[in-house]
Amino acid sequence: MKKVLAFDVYGTLIDPHGVVALLQTMVGEQAVSFSSLWRNKQLEYTFRRAAMGGDQYRDFSICTQAALDYADQGLKTALSEAQKTRLLAAYGALPAFTEVAASLRQLRAGGYDCWAFSNGTPAGIAQVLAHAAIDQYMAGVFSVSQVGSFKPAPSVYSAFARQHARGQAAVCVLISSNPFDVIGAKAAGWQAIWVQRTAANIFDPWEYRPDVTISSLGQLWEMIDAS
Ligand code: 2OP
Repeated sequence: MKKVLAFDVYGTLIDPHGVVALLQTMVGEQAVSFSSLWRNKQLEYTFRRAAMGGDQYRDFSICTQAALDYADQGLKTALSEAQKTRLLAAYGALPAFTEVAASLRQLRAGGYDCWAFSNGTPAGIAQVLAHAAIDQYMAGVFSVSQVGSFKPAPSVYSAFARQHARGQAAVCVLISSNPFDVIGAKAAGWQAIWVQRTAANIFDPWEYRPDVTISSLGQLWEMIDAS
């Protein structure tokens, strides 16, 4: 069976720090640290909700909203409700990294099925991919919402494999810039390609390593068969 490609969305296809320019108009030189705290808290909330399990699952947008409130309080930026509303709207219109469209186009032309595989809700993912004009290259969207947990819960990876790879974990390839996602995929028996976008991004010291490391999706076509 041909490899089935599962692309993480935020951080891999879409730049979650694409809100920095708007943040600069609101919080000035704190924009970069604000964006970083917002993103880190958003992920922490997903990890915590997954660990708590069961009825503690909420849409990714709830984690994003709560993390925005946390960053605002933590950095004492006193954003107004209107500013927060603008920032959350901007999160639905984040840009794709520059090389992404060409890479997805090439993979699709080569007969690969490229799935968006994300913590986002189906509507949230569809919106951001359409806004970035890369939805046309995707075979479809897989959202964790149908599982009721978040990455790296094993149930998320096994549900994807059941739906899109006839249950064969070994033919699923995750492409992600998020080390926790790569580790989750490897633990589930997948192959995984880590996108190390900058040298400052380090891989967690863990018992799993990525099969392949690339610095941008521009290298994916030549490396896909090495995974
Ligand atoms: C995603 O699932 C984790 O942000 C990451 O798109």
